[in-house]
Amino acid sequence: MTVIKINVLTVPSEGGQELAKRFAARAGAVDNQDGFEGFELLEPSDDRNEWLVITRWRDEDAFAAWLTSSAFGHGHAGVAKSDSPAPPVALRSELWSYRVSLSSPGGSAH
Ligand code: HEM
Repeated sequence: MTVIKINVLTVPSEGGQELAKRFAARAGAVDNQDGFEGFELLEPSDDRNEWLVITRWRDEDAFAAWLTSSAFGHGHAGVAKSDSPAPPVALRSELWSYRVSLSSPGGSAH
């Protein structure tokens, strides 16, 4: 069953544009990963500083395989070292793990 992994990035408001740019530069990077079902980068539209990277995976194993893959390591290589030329704009990150409890396709009742 699909699992949802949300990486919560705390980003100062002046860093938002740079974060979006860095993600855009990596668009498509995980598309071919086995079990990857898509992701969205959500930008806060209120006064929060948490950006959400919502990712969907076929199952826990598929996500775990990506996390330990060289593709993940490569994609996130520069950001772990704060003394690198392009230090991360995120101040902290936290992983949230969810499963769908109930869903509706939506519609236009109103
Ligand atoms: C749930 C899955 C994910 C996890 C656990 C994860 C993990 C992380 C972590 C820990 C950071 C902060 C690193 C740091 O500040 O040192 C980060 C930043 C980032 N991640 Fe991911 N990530 C995930 C999904 C993705 C995806 C799907 C992409 C794009 C294809 C991506 C691209 C990036 C980029 C561009 C940054 C910005 C680094 C910066 O602050 O400049 N991540 N990720």
